[in-house]
Amino acid sequence: MSDSFKIGILGGGQLAKMLCDAGQEMGYKTIVLDPSKDSCAKFSADIFLEGSYTDKELLKKMVENSDVITYEFENIPSETIGMLIELGGNIPQGKKPLYISQNRIREKESVNKIGIRTVEYRIVNSREELIKGAEELGYPVILKTASGGYDGKSQWIIKKIEELNNISLEDKEYILEKMIDLKKELSVMVFRNKRKEVVTLPVVENINRGTMLYESIVPAKINESLEREITELAIKIMKELDFIGVLGVEFFMDNKDQLYFNEMAPRPHNSGHYSIDCCDFSQFHLHLKSLGDEELPSPILLRKGLMRNIVGKEIEEYSINKKVDENIKVHIYGKKEWKQGRKMGHITILNERI
Ligand SMILES: Nc1ncnc2c1ncn2[C@@H]1O[C@H](COP(=O)(O)OP(=O)(O)O)[C@@H](O)[C@H]1O
Ligand SMILES: [Mg+2]
Repeated sequence: MSDSFKIGILGGGQLAKMLCDAGQEMGYKTIVLDPSKDSCAKFSADIFLEGSYTDKELLKKMVENSDVITYEFENIPSETIGMLIELGGNIPQGKKPLYISQNRIREKESVNKIGIRTVEYRIVNSREELIKGAEELGYPVILKTASGGYDGKSQWIIKKIEELNNISLEDKEYILEKMIDLKKELSVMVFRNKRKEVVTLPVVENINRGTMLYESIVPAKINESLEREITELAIKIMKELDFIGVLGVEFFMDNKDQLYFNEMAPRPHNSGHYSIDCCDFSQFHLHLKSLGDEELPSPILLRKGLMRNIVGKEIEEYSINKKVDENIKVHIYGKKEWKQGRKMGHITILNERI
């Protein structure tokens, strides 16, 4: 490899692919590790390592070929981070954001501690605790596994006491949340470098299809003071938890315009993809700049937009030769085959300049 700045990425899905693409635009080199030979980042990375996240030889290779190492999903085994640090790897984000965001209870406790509101919840380790928790919170409630869930997986809505019988708990930790009347779901991306500069992208409004993100609209249709409040809450989390790199923060808003922190992800986030086409710097550029401790530019929203995921079979509508509207930017992740519910790409529909 040349003297360019070198980024190691754990995980080779679409987020890694888009990080590699942004890195290439910035003159950086990338090295990606993923267990699957069909990883979509494979052809965007300068070096692709196929193998396990705990393969010492591969991790060594990653350390030798990286100035900084990051990850594209939060369920990287913590053992991997430990091994990389032992091998002399430089992980600017450290272990903490992963440790917190891998578990919904730790996540909510850590923001509650700094005075940020979440929906009311109970920790559930047994059927007795589930029954007691539901009674205390009042129906409807939503049960989620504390770790490992994403895209609405491993979640159960319980509308009334009789429905408790349909739930069989495994030997896992769960969180039981009060279900609120959602008026809007909103999220924001925050970035922070080692010299403690913080910048944010605009707040976006998220629309789910089923339990999975479908569309993100930017700017969110909220007033300026709410936009400011959300941005300030996300910055507060970033600063007080002393995170470096990128953080995607999701909020719920109820009928009374009351905000609740829902969850956070220390990696680029699906709801931030619009930034590739709508902003002067994307979430991928800004994350890489944070990792390299470069000066952080305040990103500018150049045009309004709507990002829509291309899921499963929908990919068949997007062939390379198809003529598309000049206001629609198509991003295909290059996954080998479509499966129901699998994110295959996304489009950004550009609105008028603002
Ligand atoms: N406490 C809640 N009240 C109302 N709706 C909820 C609640 N928790 C989750 N949801 C709905 O389920 C979706 C997925 O839940 P979330 O906690 O974001 O999990 P995931 O990690 O799968 O994205 C949310 O975007 C929201 O629409
Ligand atoms: Mg979510």
